[in-house]
Amino acid sequence: MVKICCIGAGYVGGPTMAVIAVKCPAIEVVVVDISKPRIDAWNSDKLPIYEPGLDEVVKACRGKNLFFSTDVEKHVAEADIIFVSVNTPTKTRGLGAGKAADLTYWESAARMIADVSKSDKIVVEKSTVPVKTAEAIEKILTHNSKGINYQILSNPEFLAEGTAIEDLFKPDRVLIGGRETPEGRKAVQALKEVYAHWVPEENIITTNLWSAELSKLAANAFLAQRISSVNAMSALCEATGANVSEVSYAIGKDSRIGPKFLNASVGFGGSCFQKDILNLVYICECNGLPEVANYWKQVIKINDYQKSRFVNRVVSSMFNTVSGKKVAILGFAFKKDTGDTRETPAIDVCKGLLGDKAHVSIYDPEVTEDQIQRDLAMNKFDWDAYEATKGAHAVCILTEWNQFKELDYQKIFDNMQKPAFIFDGRNVVDAEKLRGIGFIVYSIGKPLDAWLKDMPAIA
Ligand code: NAI
Repeated sequence: MVKICCIGAGYVGGPTMAVIAVKCPAIEVVVVDISKPRIDAWNSDKLPIYEPGLDEVVKACRGKNLFFSTDVEKHVAEADIIFVSVNTPTKTRGLGAGKAADLTYWESAARMIADVSKSDKIVVEKSTVPVKTAEAIEKILTHNSKGINYQILSNPEFLAEGTAIEDLFKPDRVLIGGRETPEGRKAVQALKEVYAHWVPEENIITTNLWSAELSKLAANAFLAQRISSVNAMSALCEATGANVSEVSYAIGKDSRIGPKFLNASVGFGGSCFQKDILNLVYICECNGLPEVANYWKQVIKINDYQKSRFVNRVVSSMFNTVSGKKVAILGFAFKKDTGDTRETPAIDVCKGLLGDKAHVSIYDPEVTEDQIQRDLAMNKFDWDAYEATKGAHAVCILTEWNQFKELDYQKIFDNMQKPAFIFDGRNVVDAEKLRGIGFIVYSIGKPLDAWLKDMPAIA
Protein backbone atom coordinates (compact mmCIF):
# COMPACT_ATOMS: atom_id res chain seq x y z
CA MET A 1 0.00 0.00 0.00
CA VAL A 2 1.35 3.41 -1.02
CA LYS A 3 1.59 6.06 1.69
CA ILE A 4 1.41 9.70 0.75
CA CYS A 5 2.37 12.63 2.93
CA CYS A 6 1.80 16.23 1.92
CA ILE A 7 3.76 19.01 3.62
CA GLY A 8 1.60 22.15 3.69
CA ALA A 9 -2.15 22.11 4.47
CA GLY A 10 -3.07 25.27 2.56
CA TYR A 11 -5.30 26.16 -0.38
CA VAL A 12 -3.48 23.62 -2.55
CA GLY A 13 -2.33 20.88 -0.15
CA GLY A 14 -5.72 20.47 1.58
CA PRO A 15 -8.06 20.16 -1.42
CA THR A 16 -5.55 18.24 -3.58
CA MET A 17 -4.92 15.59 -0.97
CA ALA A 18 -8.61 15.33 -0.09
CA VAL A 19 -9.36 14.51 -3.73
CA ILE A 20 -6.52 11.99 -3.97
CA ALA A 21 -7.85 10.32 -0.81
CA VAL A 22 -11.44 10.19 -2.02
CA LYS A 23 -10.43 8.83 -5.44
CA CYS A 24 -7.87 6.32 -4.11
CA PRO A 25 -9.36 4.58 -1.05
CA ALA A 26 -6.41 2.17 -0.87
CA ILE A 27 -3.89 4.97 -0.43
CA GLU A 28 -3.30 6.52 3.00
CA VAL A 29 -2.91 10.27 2.74
CA VAL A 30 -1.63 12.43 5.60
CA VAL A 31 -1.48 16.21 5.27
CA VAL A 32 0.96 17.81 7.70
CA ASP A 33 1.60 21.42 8.61
CA ILE A 34 3.61 23.37 11.17
CA SER A 35 0.57 25.54 11.85
CA LYS A 36 -1.46 23.96 14.64
CA PRO A 37 -4.52 26.22 14.18
CA ARG A 38 -4.65 25.23 10.51
CA ILE A 39 -4.48 21.49 11.27
CA ASP A 40 -7.05 21.87 14.08
CA ALA A 41 -9.37 23.57 11.61
CA TRP A 42 -8.92 20.79 9.03
CA ASN A 43 -9.91 18.34 11.77
CA SER A 44 -12.98 20.38 12.75
CA ASP A 45 -16.37 21.15 11.20
CA LYS A 46 -15.22 24.60 10.06
CA LEU A 47 -12.47 23.97 7.51
CA PRO A 48 -9.79 26.68 7.25
CA ILE A 49 -10.68 27.55 3.65
CA TYR A 50 -13.96 28.06 1.82
CA GLU A 51 -14.20 26.07 -1.38
CA PRO A 52 -17.44 24.78 -2.92
CA GLY A 53 -17.69 20.98 -2.52
CA LEU A 54 -14.68 20.70 -0.20
CA ASP A 55 -16.65 19.90 2.97
CA GLU A 56 -18.28 16.87 1.36
CA VAL A 57 -15.01 15.46 0.03
CA VAL A 58 -13.23 15.88 3.37
CA LYS A 59 -16.14 14.38 5.30
CA ALA A 60 -16.19 11.35 3.00
CA CYS A 61 -12.63 10.27 3.78
CA ARG A 62 -11.31 12.08 6.87
CA GLY A 63 -10.44 9.53 9.55
CA LYS A 64 -10.56 6.69 6.98
CA ASN A 65 -7.65 7.27 4.60
CA LEU A 66 -7.24 11.02 4.98
CA PHE A 67 -5.57 12.51 8.04
CA PHE A 68 -4.37 15.96 9.10
CA SER A 69 -1.51 16.17 11.56
CA THR A 70 1.18 18.42 13.01
CA ASP A 71 3.48 15.44 13.50
CA VAL A 72 5.41 16.37 10.38
CA GLU A 73 8.49 14.23 10.91
CA LYS A 74 6.70 10.97 11.73
CA HIS A 75 4.50 11.09 8.63
CA VAL A 76 7.29 12.20 6.32
CA ALA A 77 9.43 9.31 7.56
CA GLU A 78 6.64 6.81 6.88
CA ALA A 79 5.65 8.05 3.41
CA ASP A 80 6.64 6.68 0.01
CA ILE A 81 5.58 9.79 -1.89
CA ILE A 82 6.00 13.23 -0.30
CA PHE A 83 4.22 16.17 -1.85
CA VAL A 84 5.63 19.56 -0.88
CA SER A 85 2.95 22.21 -1.07
CA VAL A 86 4.38 24.92 1.13
CA ASN A 87 4.02 28.61 0.35
CA THR A 88 6.54 30.21 -2.01
CA PRO A 89 5.88 33.96 -1.66
CA THR A 90 7.81 36.79 -3.28
CA LYS A 91 11.05 37.62 -1.45
CA THR A 92 10.69 40.83 0.52
CA ARG A 93 14.36 41.43 1.30
CA GLY A 94 17.85 40.61 0.08
CA LEU A 95 18.89 39.49 -3.38
CA GLY A 96 15.94 39.55 -5.79
CA ALA A 97 13.64 41.28 -3.24
CA GLY A 98 10.24 42.15 -4.74
CA LYS A 99 10.62 39.62 -7.56
CA ALA A 100 12.33 36.32 -6.78
CA ALA A 101 10.48 33.47 -5.07
CA ASP A 102 11.26 33.00 -1.40
CA LEU A 103 12.19 29.35 -1.08
CA THR A 104 12.89 29.43 2.66
CA TYR A 105 9.90 27.20 3.47
CA TRP A 106 10.76 24.83 0.66
CA GLU A 107 14.40 24.52 1.71
CA SER A 108 13.53 23.85 5.32
CA ALA A 109 11.02 21.20 4.22
CA ALA A 110 13.70 19.56 2.06
CA ARG A 111 16.24 19.57 4.89
CA MET A 112 13.68 18.05 7.23
CA ILE A 113 12.92 15.30 4.69
CA ALA A 114 16.64 14.54 4.47
CA ASP A 115 16.90 14.46 8.28
CA VAL A 116 14.07 12.07 9.02
CA SER A 117 13.98 9.72 6.02
CA LYS A 118 15.01 6.12 6.49
CA SER A 119 13.71 4.72 3.19
CA ASP A 120 13.70 5.76 -0.48
CA LYS A 121 11.35 8.61 -1.31
CA ILE A 122 9.70 10.27 -4.24
CA VAL A 123 9.60 14.00 -3.48
CA VAL A 124 7.01 15.90 -5.50
CA GLU A 125 7.15 19.65 -6.06
CA LYS A 126 3.52 20.73 -5.77
CA SER A 127 4.31 24.34 -4.91
CA THR A 128 4.96 26.71 -7.79
CA VAL A 129 8.72 27.14 -7.90
CA PRO A 130 11.30 28.80 -10.17
CA VAL A 131 12.52 26.64 -13.03
CA LYS A 132 15.60 24.66 -11.88
CA THR A 133 14.43 24.40 -8.26
CA ALA A 134 14.45 20.61 -8.51
CA GLU A 135 18.21 20.77 -9.05
CA ALA A 136 18.68 22.68 -5.77
CA ILE A 137 16.33 20.34 -3.89
CA GLU A 138 18.15 17.34 -5.29
CA LYS A 139 21.45 18.75 -3.98
CA ILE A 140 20.05 19.33 -0.50
CA LEU A 141 18.63 15.83 -0.36
CA THR A 142 21.54 13.94 -1.85
CA HIS A 143 24.20 15.79 0.17
CA ASN A 144 22.38 14.72 3.33
CA SER A 145 21.16 11.38 2.06
CA LYS A 146 22.69 8.67 4.30
CA GLY A 147 22.47 6.32 1.31
CA ILE A 148 18.79 6.94 0.66
CA ASN A 149 17.60 7.31 -2.91
CA TYR A 150 15.47 10.36 -3.73
CA GLN A 151 13.62 11.05 -6.94
CA ILE A 152 12.38 14.60 -7.44
CA LEU A 153 9.29 15.17 -9.57
CA SER A 154 7.64 18.39 -10.61
CA ASN A 155 3.85 18.14 -10.50
CA PRO A 156 2.57 21.73 -10.52
CA GLU A 157 -1.01 22.34 -9.53
CA PHE A 158 -3.36 24.09 -11.95
CA LEU A 159 -6.48 24.31 -9.76
CA ALA A 160 -8.17 27.68 -9.42
CA GLU A 161 -9.53 28.83 -6.08
CA GLY A 162 -13.33 28.89 -6.08
CA THR A 163 -13.47 25.86 -8.42
CA ALA A 164 -10.72 23.77 -6.81
CA ILE A 165 -12.74 20.59 -6.31
CA GLU A 166 -14.24 20.68 -9.79
CA ASP A 167 -10.77 21.34 -11.25
CA LEU A 168 -9.24 18.49 -9.27
CA PHE A 169 -11.99 16.03 -10.21
CA LYS A 170 -11.74 16.90 -13.89
CA PRO A 171 -8.38 18.50 -14.58
CA ASP A 172 -7.69 19.74 -18.11
CA ARG A 173 -4.37 18.01 -17.63
CA VAL A 174 -2.04 16.67 -14.96
CA LEU A 175 1.60 17.52 -15.58
CA ILE A 176 4.44 15.38 -14.26
CA GLY A 177 8.08 16.22 -14.91
CA GLY A 178 10.94 13.94 -13.94
CA ARG A 179 14.53 12.99 -14.63
CA GLU A 180 15.05 11.16 -17.90
CA THR A 181 16.78 8.21 -16.23
CA PRO A 182 15.38 4.72 -15.51
CA GLU A 183 14.84 5.69 -11.83
CA GLY A 184 13.29 9.00 -12.87
CA ARG A 185 10.90 7.28 -15.28
CA LYS A 186 9.93 4.78 -12.60
CA ALA A 187 9.07 7.62 -10.21
CA VAL A 188 7.02 9.39 -12.88
CA GLN A 189 5.15 6.14 -13.48
CA ALA A 190 4.43 5.72 -9.74
CA LEU A 191 2.87 9.19 -9.53
CA LYS A 192 1.03 8.66 -12.80
CA GLU A 193 -0.59 5.56 -11.29
CA VAL A 194 -1.99 7.65 -8.44
CA TYR A 195 -3.69 10.10 -10.82
CA ALA A 196 -4.75 7.32 -13.20
CA HIS A 197 -7.35 6.32 -10.56
CA TRP A 198 -9.56 9.07 -11.99
CA VAL A 199 -7.75 11.06 -14.69
CA PRO A 200 -7.81 9.63 -18.25
CA GLU A 201 -4.31 8.65 -19.33
CA GLU A 202 -4.30 11.03 -22.31
CA ASN A 203 -4.72 13.93 -19.87
CA ILE A 204 -1.60 13.01 -17.91
CA ILE A 205 1.35 14.74 -19.56
CA THR A 206 4.89 13.73 -18.75
CA THR A 207 7.86 15.98 -19.51
CA ASN A 208 11.35 16.71 -18.32
CA LEU A 209 11.68 18.48 -14.97
CA TRP A 210 12.39 21.94 -16.35
CA SER A 211 9.47 21.95 -18.77
CA ALA A 212 7.09 21.05 -15.95
CA GLU A 213 8.44 23.74 -13.62
CA LEU A 214 8.41 26.40 -16.33
CA SER A 215 4.96 25.42 -17.66
CA LYS A 216 3.31 26.44 -14.40
CA LEU A 217 4.88 29.91 -14.47
CA ALA A 218 4.09 30.20 -18.17
CA ALA A 219 0.44 29.17 -17.67
CA ASN A 220 -0.12 31.79 -14.97
CA ALA A 221 1.67 34.45 -17.02
CA PHE A 222 -0.52 33.69 -20.08
CA LEU A 223 -3.72 33.73 -18.01
CA ALA A 224 -2.86 37.02 -16.33
CA GLN A 225 -1.84 38.44 -19.68
CA ARG A 226 -5.34 37.80 -21.05
CA ILE A 227 -6.84 39.77 -18.18
CA SER A 228 -4.40 42.64 -18.61
CA SER A 229 -5.02 42.63 -22.37
CA VAL A 230 -8.79 42.89 -21.98
CA ASN A 231 -8.40 45.46 -19.20
CA ALA A 232 -6.17 47.57 -21.45
CA MET A 233 -8.95 47.36 -24.05
CA SER A 234 -11.51 48.42 -21.43
CA ALA A 235 -9.76 51.77 -21.00
CA LEU A 236 -9.83 52.31 -24.75
CA CYS A 237 -13.51 51.29 -24.87
CA GLU A 238 -14.39 53.94 -22.29
CA ALA A 239 -12.50 56.55 -24.31
CA THR A 240 -14.16 55.64 -27.60
CA GLY A 241 -17.68 54.48 -26.78
CA ALA A 242 -16.99 50.83 -27.64
CA ASN A 243 -18.36 48.25 -25.21
CA VAL A 244 -15.77 45.83 -23.80
CA SER A 245 -18.31 43.02 -23.37
CA GLU A 246 -19.18 43.24 -27.05
CA VAL A 247 -15.51 43.37 -28.00
CA SER A 248 -14.73 40.35 -25.77
CA TYR A 249 -17.60 38.37 -27.22
CA ALA A 250 -16.59 39.24 -30.76
CA ILE A 251 -12.93 38.32 -30.34
CA GLY A 252 -13.67 35.30 -28.16
CA LYS A 253 -15.70 33.76 -31.00
CA ASP A 254 -12.44 33.40 -32.89
CA SER A 255 -11.53 29.80 -32.11
CA ARG A 256 -7.84 30.76 -32.03
CA ILE A 257 -8.57 33.19 -29.18
CA GLY A 258 -11.42 31.41 -27.36
CA PRO A 259 -14.06 32.87 -25.06
CA LYS A 260 -12.62 32.27 -21.57
CA PHE A 261 -10.85 34.71 -19.28
CA LEU A 262 -11.88 37.76 -21.27
CA ASN A 263 -13.93 39.60 -18.65
CA ALA A 264 -12.79 43.15 -17.99
CA SER A 265 -12.55 43.95 -14.28
CA VAL A 266 -10.95 46.11 -11.65
CA GLY A 267 -7.91 43.85 -11.97
CA PHE A 268 -6.69 40.36 -11.17
CA GLY A 269 -5.67 39.30 -7.68
CA GLY A 270 -4.91 36.13 -5.77
CA SER A 271 -1.72 34.79 -4.34
CA CYS A 272 -0.35 33.46 -7.62
CA PHE A 273 -0.54 35.65 -10.72
CA GLN A 274 1.56 38.58 -9.58
CA LYS A 275 3.99 36.45 -7.58
CA ASP A 276 4.56 33.99 -10.43
CA ILE A 277 5.01 36.67 -13.08
CA LEU A 278 7.49 38.52 -10.87
CA ASN A 279 9.29 35.25 -10.43
CA LEU A 280 9.35 34.75 -14.21
CA VAL A 281 10.62 38.30 -14.68
CA TYR A 282 13.43 37.65 -12.23
CA ILE A 283 14.40 34.40 -13.92
CA CYS A 284 14.52 36.21 -17.29
CA GLU A 285 16.73 38.93 -15.83
CA CYS A 286 19.04 36.36 -14.26
CA ASN A 287 19.33 34.66 -17.64
CA GLY A 288 20.33 37.89 -19.37
CA LEU A 289 16.96 38.43 -21.08
CA PRO A 290 15.88 41.99 -20.08
CA GLU A 291 13.54 42.40 -23.08
CA VAL A 292 11.62 39.26 -22.13
CA ALA A 293 11.54 40.39 -18.50
CA ASN A 294 10.08 43.79 -19.50
CA TYR A 295 7.48 42.16 -21.71
CA TRP A 296 6.01 40.21 -18.78
CA LYS A 297 6.44 43.07 -16.31
CA GLN A 298 3.96 45.02 -18.40
CA VAL A 299 1.19 42.55 -17.49
CA ILE A 300 1.56 43.60 -13.86
CA LYS A 301 1.86 47.28 -14.71
CA ILE A 302 -1.46 47.22 -16.58
CA ASN A 303 -3.03 45.51 -13.58
CA ASP A 304 -1.80 48.28 -11.27
CA TYR A 305 -2.98 50.87 -13.79
CA GLN A 306 -6.45 49.30 -13.86
CA LYS A 307 -6.80 49.50 -10.07
CA SER A 308 -5.69 53.13 -9.87
CA ARG A 309 -7.84 54.01 -12.90
CA PHE A 310 -10.83 52.65 -10.99
CA VAL A 311 -10.04 54.71 -7.89
CA ASN A 312 -9.51 57.82 -10.05
CA ARG A 313 -12.84 57.24 -11.72
CA VAL A 314 -14.63 57.00 -8.37
CA VAL A 315 -13.00 60.14 -6.99
CA SER A 316 -13.32 62.27 -10.12
CA SER A 317 -16.98 61.31 -10.62
CA MET A 318 -17.79 62.39 -7.08
CA PHE A 319 -16.70 66.02 -7.58
CA ASN A 320 -13.02 65.14 -7.23
CA THR A 321 -13.24 64.28 -3.56
CA VAL A 322 -14.48 61.41 -1.43
CA SER A 323 -13.30 63.00 1.80
CA GLY A 324 -15.82 62.32 4.55
CA LYS A 325 -18.12 60.41 2.16
CA LYS A 326 -19.27 56.89 2.91
CA VAL A 327 -18.25 54.47 0.18
CA ALA A 328 -19.66 50.96 0.47
CA ILE A 329 -17.46 48.16 -0.82
CA LEU A 330 -19.33 45.03 -1.90
CA GLY A 331 -16.90 42.13 -2.14
CA PHE A 332 -13.38 41.96 -0.77
CA ALA A 333 -12.16 38.49 -1.83
CA PHE A 334 -10.05 38.43 -4.98
CA LYS A 335 -12.85 36.58 -6.78
CA LYS A 336 -16.15 34.89 -6.04
CA ASP A 337 -16.50 31.57 -4.18
CA THR A 338 -13.39 32.05 -2.08
CA GLY A 339 -12.62 33.86 1.16
CA ASP A 340 -9.02 34.43 0.03
CA THR A 341 -7.91 38.07 0.04
CA ARG A 342 -4.26 37.63 -0.90
CA GLU A 343 -3.37 40.36 -3.43
CA THR A 344 -7.05 41.18 -3.91
CA PRO A 345 -7.58 44.38 -5.95
CA ALA A 346 -9.96 45.45 -3.15
CA ILE A 347 -6.95 46.15 -0.93
CA ASP A 348 -5.48 48.68 -3.35
CA VAL A 349 -8.86 50.20 -4.18
CA CYS A 350 -9.73 50.62 -0.48
CA LYS A 351 -6.30 52.04 0.29
CA GLY A 352 -6.74 54.53 -2.57
CA LEU A 353 -10.14 55.61 -1.25
CA LEU A 354 -8.93 55.77 2.34
CA GLY A 355 -6.00 57.85 1.13
CA ASP A 356 -8.57 60.35 -0.12
CA LYS A 357 -10.20 60.21 3.33
CA ALA A 358 -13.32 58.27 2.36
CA HIS A 359 -15.28 56.38 5.06
CA VAL A 360 -15.10 52.88 3.70
CA SER A 361 -17.65 50.25 4.73
CA ILE A 362 -17.04 46.70 3.54
CA TYR A 363 -19.22 43.63 3.06
CA ASP A 364 -18.12 40.23 1.76
CA PRO A 365 -19.99 36.96 2.32
CA GLU A 366 -16.85 34.88 2.99
CA VAL A 367 -14.17 37.25 4.25
CA THR A 368 -13.98 37.78 8.00
CA GLU A 369 -13.69 41.13 9.76
CA ASP A 370 -10.40 39.88 11.22
CA GLN A 371 -8.93 39.38 7.78
CA ILE A 372 -9.96 42.86 6.61
CA GLN A 373 -8.40 44.36 9.71
CA ARG A 374 -5.15 42.62 8.87
CA ASP A 375 -5.31 43.68 5.20
CA LEU A 376 -6.26 47.30 5.77
CA ALA A 377 -5.52 47.98 9.42
CA MET A 378 -9.10 49.21 9.83
CA ASN A 379 -12.27 47.87 11.37
CA LYS A 380 -15.19 48.92 9.30
CA PHE A 381 -16.96 45.75 8.35
CA ASP A 382 -20.64 45.01 7.86
CA TRP A 383 -22.45 41.71 8.03
CA ASP A 384 -24.94 42.68 5.39
CA ALA A 385 -24.88 44.46 2.01
CA TYR A 386 -27.84 46.70 3.01
CA GLU A 387 -26.13 47.78 6.22
CA ALA A 388 -22.90 48.50 4.32
CA THR A 389 -24.67 50.68 1.76
CA LYS A 390 -26.96 52.57 4.19
CA GLY A 391 -26.28 56.30 4.02
CA ALA A 392 -23.51 55.77 1.45
CA HIS A 393 -22.67 58.18 -1.35
CA ALA A 394 -21.32 55.39 -3.52
CA VAL A 395 -21.16 51.62 -3.86
CA CYS A 396 -18.13 49.87 -5.37
CA ILE A 397 -18.58 46.24 -6.43
CA LEU A 398 -15.18 44.61 -6.27
CA THR A 399 -15.97 40.86 -6.28
CA GLU A 400 -18.35 39.12 -8.68
CA TRP A 401 -20.36 37.24 -6.02
CA ASN A 402 -23.64 35.99 -7.56
CA GLN A 403 -25.63 37.45 -4.67
CA PHE A 404 -24.66 40.97 -5.76
CA LYS A 405 -26.70 40.49 -8.93
CA GLU A 406 -29.80 39.78 -6.88
CA LEU A 407 -29.72 42.56 -4.29
CA ASP A 408 -32.74 44.83 -3.92
CA TYR A 409 -31.16 47.89 -5.54
CA GLN A 410 -34.31 49.98 -5.12
CA LYS A 411 -33.97 49.52 -1.34
CA ILE A 412 -30.26 50.33 -1.52
CA PHE A 413 -30.97 53.46 -3.61
CA ASP A 414 -33.66 54.64 -1.19
CA ASN A 415 -31.20 54.47 1.72
CA MET A 416 -28.28 56.20 -0.02
CA GLN A 417 -27.20 59.84 -0.34
CA LYS A 418 -28.01 61.46 -3.70
CA PRO A 419 -26.70 61.49 -6.33
CA ALA A 420 -26.18 57.77 -5.71
CA PHE A 421 -23.27 56.15 -7.54
CA ILE A 422 -22.51 52.53 -8.36
CA PHE A 423 -19.04 51.69 -9.59
CA ASP A 424 -19.20 48.14 -10.88
CA GLY A 425 -15.66 46.79 -10.93
CA ARG A 426 -16.80 43.36 -12.17
CA ASN A 427 -19.60 44.21 -14.58
CA VAL A 428 -22.12 42.13 -12.63
CA VAL A 429 -25.11 44.45 -12.33
CA ASP A 430 -27.70 45.33 -14.94
CA ALA A 431 -26.60 48.93 -15.47
CA GLU A 432 -29.68 49.94 -17.48
CA LYS A 433 -32.02 48.72 -14.76
CA LEU A 434 -30.05 50.60 -12.10
CA ARG A 435 -30.08 53.77 -14.18
CA GLY A 436 -33.87 53.36 -14.31
CA ILE A 437 -33.91 53.44 -10.50
CA GLY A 438 -31.87 56.65 -10.54
CA PHE A 439 -28.28 55.52 -9.96
CA ILE A 440 -25.30 56.94 -11.81
CA VAL A 441 -23.59 53.75 -12.94
CA TYR A 442 -20.01 53.13 -14.01
CA SER A 443 -19.33 49.75 -15.64
CA ILE A 444 -15.75 48.96 -16.62
CA GLY A 445 -15.16 49.34 -20.35
CA LYS A 446 -18.76 50.31 -21.16
CA PRO A 447 -20.11 53.52 -22.70
CA LEU A 448 -20.15 56.16 -19.97
CA ASP A 449 -23.16 57.94 -18.45
CA ALA A 450 -23.33 61.62 -19.43
CA TRP A 451 -22.34 62.46 -15.85
CA LEU A 452 -19.16 60.41 -15.97
CA LYS A 453 -18.27 61.68 -19.43
CA ASP A 454 -18.28 65.22 -18.11
CA MET A 455 -15.87 64.25 -15.35
CA PRO A 456 -13.20 62.22 -17.09
CA ALA A 457 -10.98 60.15 -14.82
CA ILE A 458 -7.40 61.32 -14.61
CA ALA A 459 -5.47 58.13 -15.12
P1 NAI B 1 -0.79 28.42 1.79
O1 NAI B 1 -0.03 29.53 2.40
O2 NAI B 1 -2.29 28.40 1.86
O3 NAI B 1 -0.30 27.03 2.42
C1 NAI B 1 1.02 26.69 2.66
C2 NAI B 1 1.10 25.94 3.99
O4 NAI B 1 2.42 25.41 4.14
C3 NAI B 1 0.85 26.80 5.22
O5 NAI B 1 -0.25 26.29 5.95
C4 NAI B 1 2.16 26.73 6.01
O6 NAI B 1 1.97 26.72 7.41
C5 NAI B 1 2.72 25.41 5.53
N1 NAI B 1 4.17 25.27 5.71
C6 NAI B 1 5.15 26.17 5.38
N2 NAI B 1 6.36 25.65 5.68
C7 NAI B 1 6.16 24.43 6.20
C8 NAI B 1 7.02 23.41 6.69
N3 NAI B 1 8.34 23.56 6.67
N4 NAI B 1 6.47 22.28 7.17
C9 NAI B 1 5.13 22.11 7.19
N5 NAI B 1 4.26 23.04 6.73
C10 NAI B 1 4.77 24.18 6.23
O7 NAI B 1 -0.32 28.35 0.28
P2 NAI B 1 -1.13 27.78 -1.00
O8 NAI B 1 -2.03 28.81 -1.54
O9 NAI B 1 -1.66 26.42 -0.68
O10 NAI B 1 0.07 27.63 -2.04
C11 NAI B 1 1.06 26.62 -1.90
C12 NAI B 1 1.86 26.56 -3.19
O11 NAI B 1 1.01 26.17 -4.27
C13 NAI B 1 2.48 27.90 -3.60
O12 NAI B 1 3.73 27.63 -4.19
C14 NAI B 1 1.53 28.42 -4.66
O13 NAI B 1 2.17 29.23 -5.59
C15 NAI B 1 1.06 27.13 -5.32
N6 NAI B 1 -0.25 27.20 -5.94
C16 NAI B 1 -1.28 27.89 -5.34
C17 NAI B 1 -2.53 27.94 -5.93
C18 NAI B 1 -3.64 28.69 -5.28
O14 NAI B 1 -4.65 28.89 -5.95
N7 NAI B 1 -3.53 29.13 -4.05
C19 NAI B 1 -2.80 27.24 -7.20
C20 NAI B 1 -1.68 26.51 -7.70
C21 NAI B 1 -0.46 26.51 -7.09
